[in-house]
Amino acid sequence: MKSKKYTIVTYGCQMNEHDSEKISWILENMGYIWTDDKEDSDFIIYNTCLVRENAELKVYGQLGALKDLKRKNPDLILAVCGCMMQREEIRNIILRKYRHVDIIFGTGNIHKLPQLINRYHQSNETVVDVVEDNREIVENIDANRKYSFKAYVNVMYGCNNFCTYCIVPYTRGRERSREPENIIEEVRSLAERGYKEITLLGQNVNSYGKTLSYDYTFANLLEDINKIDGIKRIRFMTSHPKDLSDELIEAMASLDKVCEHLHLPIQSGSSRILKVMNRKYTKEDYLRLVEKIRNRIPDIALTTDIIVGFPGETEEDFNETLELVKKVEYDSAFTFLYSIREGTIAARMENQIPDDIKQERFQRLLDTLYPIFYKKNLKYQDKVVEVLVEEVSKNNEKVLTGRTRHGKLVHFEGDKKLIGQLVDVKIDNVKTFTLEGHII
Ligand code: SAH
Ligand code: SF4
Ligand code: F3S
Repeated sequence: MKSKKYTIVTYGCQMNEHDSEKISWILENMGYIWTDDKEDSDFIIYNTCLVRENAELKVYGQLGALKDLKRKNPDLILAVCGCMMQREEIRNIILRKYRHVDIIFGTGNIHKLPQLINRYHQSNETVVDVVEDNREIVENIDANRKYSFKAYVNVMYGCNNFCTYCIVPYTRGRERSREPENIIEEVRSLAERGYKEITLLGQNVNSYGKTLSYDYTFANLLEDINKIDGIKRIRFMTSHPKDLSDELIEAMASLDKVCEHLHLPIQSGSSRILKVMNRKYTKEDYLRLVEKIRNRIPDIALTTDIIVGFPGETEEDFNETLELVKKVEYDSAFTFLYSIREGTIAARMENQIPDDIKQERFQRLLDTLYPIFYKKNLKYQDKVVEVLVEEVSKNNEKVLTGRTRHGKLVHFEGDKKLIGQLVDVKIDNVKTFTLEGHII
């Protein structure tokens, strides 16, 4: 029998990317093989994100466009999963307006996909299966990872922080930590298969361990993973500033495999806005924390997330954000226009900021950030950096790209046989978002 082909379209964060790797592993165990071509697929899955409106709108657009394909190929199965499907009102929109969708499942029941496909074949009706209140941890699914040398590993699921703008606690459920031995076993098995870099994933890794029945922290986990032979680099995302302990800073400073990079979302430079966001730290707390980290790890690369135009943000509040980014001097930042998310507290606030003001502030923020990124990169000019080679550049097949321990993207000429290797690169030229150099 001819193998069936599948494709997965993924939106959203690393958590979702990794979930797609798990879905891919499940489907390949069922005999499906990957294709890039939707026209040639027997099974198409959309793994969705709800964190901002544009992510949501893209999915509706894509699903609408698939109506024709489904008409041409009635055997095609169309599934939608991910964060959008955790919300009943969105599932209802799909059921009402996109009746060609066959399977709907959530973030907590990926492991049930084979059963859901069977149920669909038996009934030929739309199958919906979502766990609204995600509390479980499912351990027995592996992942069909995109790279053979760097891997995502979940350490915890969910989030308990309820920042007032954010939908994630409503799509990923309550915070729960994986047992350390399961994580360590997974990393050990990746190391045996030749993986060099591990990125530990959680919405707030600093509160790792709180749901375990014994004392074990994220710093303890880093110590244990640092001991695993074969692993060369350890990264993690994301750290909430309110929970970043001295113990963790100490672990980062002393463990040789933990990379000199910290992603520490600030969101806003105004303590007043931070309070309404329910972030539980002030601008001063954050600056003190940055100082403490830099005292202990002087060359650490700091990156952040910033939201522009949160409800009630005044010109003064926004100027405080500009002042803060100038003080901290980030290596890089993800910047977002505040997006109303139904179901969150901030969505009900009356003092929403008009789009044109948001856009104008957003541009001013970028104009402030870019020269800082460039300045931070300048310190690598003529220096030799260790790069984990990741792929061939999309624009030039002679050029390879990879990342330094500090998370900097580097371009250099080389043979694609080097992909997956650690090489030393001398930096000849520096740009705002990349470094350019040659292998030595
Ligand atoms: N758990 C992580 C990341 C969560 S989502 C953390 O706490 O850092 C990634 C980023 O999306 C957030 O840091 C925030 O900057 C942004 N974000 C979340 N909700 C948003 C919204 N409603 N509008 C705009 N940006 C948002
Ligand atoms: Fe969202 Fe805040 Fe949780 Fe991050 S910590 S996922 S921003 S609620
Ligand atoms: Fe990630 Fe988007 Fe869900 S950011 S957790 S995929 S809402």
